[in-house]
Amino acid sequence: MARVTISDLSNWKKQGKKWAMLTSYDQISAEIIDESGVPVILVGDSAGNNFYGYENTIPVTLSEMIACARAVTSASKSALVVGDFPFGSYESSAEVALETGVRFLKEARVQAVKLEGGVKVIPQIKKLISAGIPVMGHLGLTPQSVNALGGFKVQGRGESGAAIKADAKALEEAGVFALVLELVPEELAREISGELKIPVIGIGAGKYCDAQVLVWTDLVGLTKEPPKLAKAYRNLRSEIKGAISEWVLDVENSKFPDAEQTFH
Ligand code: KIV
Repeated sequence: MARVTISDLSNWKKQGKKWAMLTSYDQISAEIIDESGVPVILVGDSAGNNFYGYENTIPVTLSEMIACARAVTSASKSALVVGDFPFGSYESSAEVALETGVRFLKEARVQAVKLEGGVKVIPQIKKLISAGIPVMGHLGLTPQSVNALGGFKVQGRGESGAAIKADAKALEEAGVFALVLELVPEELAREISGELKIPVIGIGAGKYCDAQVLVWTDLVGLTKEPPKLAKAYRNLRSEIKGAISEWVLDVENSKFPDAEQTFH
């Protein structure tokens, strides 16, 4: 089956069709997510606090992101795979951003990339797009700036909403094919989704966005302390713990392996 393309996403916006994007950082989850019919997989730098064991996304390196993205593209067949630029891999110049984009496409074979920020990163976005690399934007709570923002707080309440809206319009004009809006008031996300022609993907941004994104470990209940913006549809953490405890007891009581796992 052919992979979903950025043209599909643009058509879905015109048709009013809503869709889902989910993160993945490894082979097994990418296989499962792809087989479940999720049309877009984000290899997010949330790998930092969901895969690599860091406190947040800031320490994640480009090589770490490329390794995750390569596993995800190899294990998926139908989803459009988006590689997230980690902190420090694009801010300094358009040329540095292009080098990062080229590595993501050549080494990890992603179909698109994502980076955080508004008007300040427009030169980077234009450079990437002119080289044929589709770019997804990310506004609102941008986790790579958590220290400057003073924590994981709702962005764009009251008058500051106008700045996010202006950034969103500038990113659309620069050519991004979609925009993530994270942790902003529902009404602001509704207005931006209504005014932009590109799909707006919400996370903690209410129900009026064109699409929704979640971190996959939050969705399936693997995360120890999930954020308020996520919903756990299962409790896989307790399922997995149950399976492991059962196996440990079986080993201790000589019940594993039994005849089926034994060779003669
Ligand atoms: O890194 C990530 O997972 C993200 C999403 C939460 C949008 O940027």
